[in-house]
Parts: sequence; C-alpha cells; structure tokens
Amino acid sequence: MTDSKIGLEPIENASIDELRSLQLQRLKNTLAHAYQNSAAYRQKFDQHGVHPNDLLCLEDLAKFPFTVKSDLRDNYPFGFFAREMQDIVRVHASSGTTGQPTVVGYTQNDIDTWANVVARSIYAAGGRKKDKVHISYGYGLFTGGLGAHYGAERLGCTVIPMSGGQTAKQVQLIRDFDPDLIMVTPSYMLNIADEIERQNIDPATLSLRCGIFGAEPWTNALRSEIEQRMHIDALDIYGLSEVMGPGVAQECIESKDGPVIWEDHFYPEIINPVTGELVEEGEQGELVFTSLSKEAMPIIRYRTRDLTRLLPPTSRSMRRMDKITGRSDDMLIIRGVNVFPTQIEEQLLSIEKLSPHYHITIDKQGNMDNLTIQVEAKQNAAAGDAGLSRELQQKIKTFIGVSSQIEILAPQHLQRSQGKAVRVTDNR
Ligand code: DLL
Repeated sequence: MTDSKIGLEPIENASIDELRSLQLQRLKNTLAHAYQNSAAYRQKFDQHGVHPNDLLCLEDLAKFPFTVKSDLRDNYPFGFFAREMQDIVRVHASSGTTGQPTVVGYTQNDIDTWANVVARSIYAAGGRKKDKVHISYGYGLFTGGLGAHYGAERLGCTVIPMSGGQTAKQVQLIRDFDPDLIMVTPSYMLNIADEIERQNIDPATLSLRCGIFGAEPWTNALRSEIEQRMHIDALDIYGLSEVMGPGVAQECIESKDGPVIWEDHFYPEIINPVTGELVEEGEQGELVFTSLSKEAMPIIRYRTRDLTRLLPPTSRSMRRMDKITGRSDDMLIIRGVNVFPTQIEEQLLSIEKLSPHYHITIDKQGNMDNLTIQVEAKQNAAAGDAGLSRELQQKIKTFIGVSSQIEILAPQHLQRSQGKAVRVTDNR
C-alpha cells in the first residue's frame, strides 16, 4: 500500500461492483424515504407518474423528475424536510441574493456523515490528525465554515475557527499559530496573500503546507499562481448547501486532477442543460446530484447549474469531476459569444505582469454589448500600460472570440471579497 492509501476508508478503494451495489441499495432507500416522508416529493413523483418501486437499476434514476432551486424556494422554509422538526439538529441557508434564501436541514446522522466526508476530503488533500487547520470560510448560515470545522475536528486536527474577514488578523494568526492547512475561498486567499506581502512577510517562511479552496469557480492558472506565491499545494473542494455543503467532492493531493466525487453518498449525473437528457459518458453538461444517505432532506436529481464533465477514477475508485467552468446562470452572452469569467481569468493569468484581481463589466451602447475588463497590474508593471492592455485584448479576441476594452489598474484598486468573489457587473 502506498503511503497516500493508508488511512482511507475501505469504500474509497472498493471495486466498481461493490460501489454500484451500495449505491443502488442506498438509492432505493432514499427514493422510498423521500416519497413516504416528504409531501413535496410525493406530489412531484405522482405528477410525473413514477414510484420508487420503478427503480430497479441505477440507470432508472433518469425516469425521476429533477429538483430545482425554485422547488426549494416554493416550499420555504422547511417544506422539503422529510423528518420531524424534533429530529433536525441544524439548519443552514444559502445567501439568496435574489428572493428567498434556500433552507436546508440536517439530522444528527446527517451532521456525522457530513463531518466524515469533510474529514475524508481533508485527508485526501494530505491533511493528517497532527495538523492545525486555519478556517477562513465564513461561519454562520453559509455551510463553508461549520462544514470545514466539523470535518477537521472529526479528522482529529486542531481547528482555528477564524471565519472570513479581518485580513490583518488572519495573517497574524497564520504567523503566530503556525497552521499546516488553510481552508478558504481562492479569491480570499489572494487577499490574504496580498496582506502577507504588505506586511513584508516571506510566505516561504510560513508554516502553511496546503490550501483547500472552493465555493467559487477557479482555474488551474489561479492554482499555479497561488501555489507559487504561497509555497503551498492548492487543492479543489466542491460542494453545495442543497446537497450537503463542502465535501461533496475533493481533489487528491497525489494526482491533483479534479475533485473525486464521494459517490457512496452523492450520486452524480450530467445532463444537457437545455433538453434535460443525459449526455454521453465524459461529455460536458450540467451536474445533477442525488443524495444517497441524507435523512433530513433527501435531494433527488438536483440541478446544480454547475457545468463540468465526469472523469474516470484515478486515485480513488470513485469518479472525478473536471474543474467547474462556471454556472449556467453565470454565462455571459456577449455579442452572441458565450463567455465564462473563468475563461477571462485563464487569459489574464497567462500574462506574467497581471494579477488575478479582475472585474468584468458589460454595458450596452446602442445595440452593441461592450465588455470591459479591469485588472490590476502586479508591482513590477505600470497602471495604464498600453502594451499590456493590447496583449490581453488580443488573447481574449483570439482564444475567446470577443472584443474587449482593458483597463490596467494600480495594485489594490479593486474591491476585495471576503468570501465568494463577485466578478461581474452586467448593466444590460
Ligand atoms: O459554496 C459550499 C462550499 C463551501 C464548497 C466551501 C466548497 C467550500 P453554496 O453556497 O450552496 O455552497 O454554493 C454552491 O458554489 O453550486 C458552485 O456553483 C460553487 N462552488 C462550490 N465549490 C466550488 C468549486 C458552497 N470547488 C455553489 N469550484 C456551487 C467551482 C464551486 N464552484
């Protein structure tokens, strides 16, 4: 057994037959539980003309209706719960920038499952019991902070529950407490890195070995940037509150080839976002999840809006997902061309003198869409550098296919995020 395989749960290395048979048994239980105990699901299944007994194999899941965010909103706050309120030990809610927040609930067993998959995720990222984990995901209704916290404790680590914000204090604690791991959004990591630089601290002298980054799309180009700047390994963690929270999937340190989906608890499908049909194996589309062990709020075929594809297993027996390109609702259509902010990030990070701090604005002039990208120069470059703007403009035209206006700004000019970054202002 290689060192990275010691300490894994048996299911992480199980045979494909073993995994599929566990999934089938759990899926049958989940459908029956949802139908019997959630009025919302019973009504959905009845209207769709399906019954849990119709599922004989995993492929039969495609007969069942999707669940979408508006279903949860329409049943606000607790209408999707499939257990008595007295069995619910915690609720979380998504931020809900538009309209109602989406509320999710957990039984004690759900909290335990969640802590276990996050512990498994931290382990996959190279974290061990002896490690100290600095958590800068926000604590509160957002699942990031508490999800990471319970998982790190479950693994036996020492948790530093810093939460988001107070960037100078983040740096002080990192310097004084010597954490081995940090868990934070990639955009806020950049913010912390800037503060480290501002305080004239050499990141190489810090104790951090690894960062577990997620909650927002980020590119491999940003991974390299963070790794080089911070002298750490940067790994991707994926999750969403409707399905559980962080720890639905996690990238392994030994392969760094996309998050492994913890398929014993979360069953993935990829659909064509327009037709709702399953795509061919390995094709890009919208990620759909069905929970396999949740009690308080089983979730059946939840449309995440996240665009990615499934990849074959490598470091574990379970399938991986490719880095998320973006959410279907984040896709910008600029003069008829589909553009994701991650594509712009990739291009600007291919230019050495540009920083990963950027903001995209789209305006309408007459009938024309105008794309403006503001990006901060690094310390060794000048604001307003015409050569740099031309270079980025050409790359965006060549690789993405749209014309843009580029503003090269001085460092520290753009507003920083403390959690998920807001990359786009669409004024159309
Ligand atoms: O962001 C849970 C989480 C917390 C994941 C901490 C990882 C780390 P929500 O607030 O419900 O939950 O937002 C979920 O965030 O549908 C994706 O669009 C996006 N997202 C989460 N992780 C990643 C990732 C948390 N690794 C939504 N890459 C999801 C790209 C991500 N997008």
